[in-house]
Amino acid sequence: MSALSSALPDFPWDLLEPAKTLAASHPDGIVDLSVGTPVDPVPAVVRQALAGASDTPGYPLTAGTTQLRAAIAGWLARACRASGELGVLPTIGSKELVAWLPTLLGAGPGDKVVIPRICYPTYEVGVRLAGAEVIRADSLTAVGPERVKLVWINSPSNPTGRVLPAEHLRKVVAWARERDAIVVSDECYLSLGWESEPVSVLADEVTGGDYTGVLAVHSLSKRSNLAGYRAGFVGGDPALIGELLAVRKHAGMIPPAPVQAAMVAALEDETHVAEQRARYAARRDTLRAALLKAGFELSHSEAGLYLWATRGEDCWQTVDRLAQRGILAAPGAFYGPAAAQHVRVALTATDERVAAAADRLAAGL
Ligand SMILES: Cc1ncc(COP(=O)(O)O)c(C=O)c1O
Repeated sequence: MSALSSALPDFPWDLLEPAKTLAASHPDGIVDLSVGTPVDPVPAVVRQALAGASDTPGYPLTAGTTQLRAAIAGWLARACRASGELGVLPTIGSKELVAWLPTLLGAGPGDKVVIPRICYPTYEVGVRLAGAEVIRADSLTAVGPERVKLVWINSPSNPTGRVLPAEHLRKVVAWARERDAIVVSDECYLSLGWESEPVSVLADEVTGGDYTGVLAVHSLSKRSNLAGYRAGFVGGDPALIGELLAVRKHAGMIPPAPVQAAMVAALEDETHVAEQRARYAARRDTLRAALLKAGFELSHSEAGLYLWATRGEDCWQTVDRLAQRGILAAPGAFYGPAAAQHVRVALTATDERVAAAADRLAAGL
């Protein structure tokens, strides 16, 4: 038997354990800015909806309840400015979809999938699980005449915080349509624009209401502090969504009924989103100023949940230097060979821990 796991890279976070142990030995404790995991409360309105739906003994619908489908479609129309007829589907968080999408859409050996040069590691994992081939490229002209099955884009980007403007998104969609490739845009940080306004691939200014061959992947993990609930969704081309539904129904890939109810509440409320944004904005200001003062340069970082920082040295050296001060950051190497001199600093720590990080950085590295 050839183990499927042997086709996969090392699990990146395991490699960070030594730095984590070092950072945890700081007398005032670790400031963990490595994984982008929310630390603020789940909004009360969402918790109430979850509790109110706890008596649900029957199997939930893979397609999502009528209310959830309407809430997703309404949110995509409003937040993404998408006025056309969309297909929608809830997912069990978005990571599972990212990891299985190439397989679910029939990609296999011999197929090629384009992913960004510097990106969230799960795009590559999904391509490898399907047995297909990865092409890392930001400019599609670099791909040349290759036949491509699928193109992943991610704006705002994890880890760089780069935002792709509407013009860029239009070019990607046009390129893919000429070649019969599918464009999948991961937009889980869409509500976190700081210095530029992120645009959805579904926006009328990009697709003009025609979603043929286009999907947008979304998550409530960051927007609504729901990483623990596993709440994501995908919207776009009704034919592709129908295909995903047909396969996922057979495979039991169904968000739990109480989570579906919680998602409706989260999508219909923007107050908690504004509150959470304000928390991240303040932490971002503090960390940004502290990193610049400590001699870091910041690249991109105009949106999303991270600062993309470099000291012009190997990322593991920077990780180690920070860990000696009790601060844990993620090495750029996790995100692709082109990122070996950057570290990713997450905004997901409490105000108290962020202030501690700023003090430690002020004391020098
Ligand atoms: C770019 C990107 N896509 C997808 C995900 C997965 O998020 P979730 O599975 O919590 O929806 C993450 C998580 O950090 C991410 O950074």
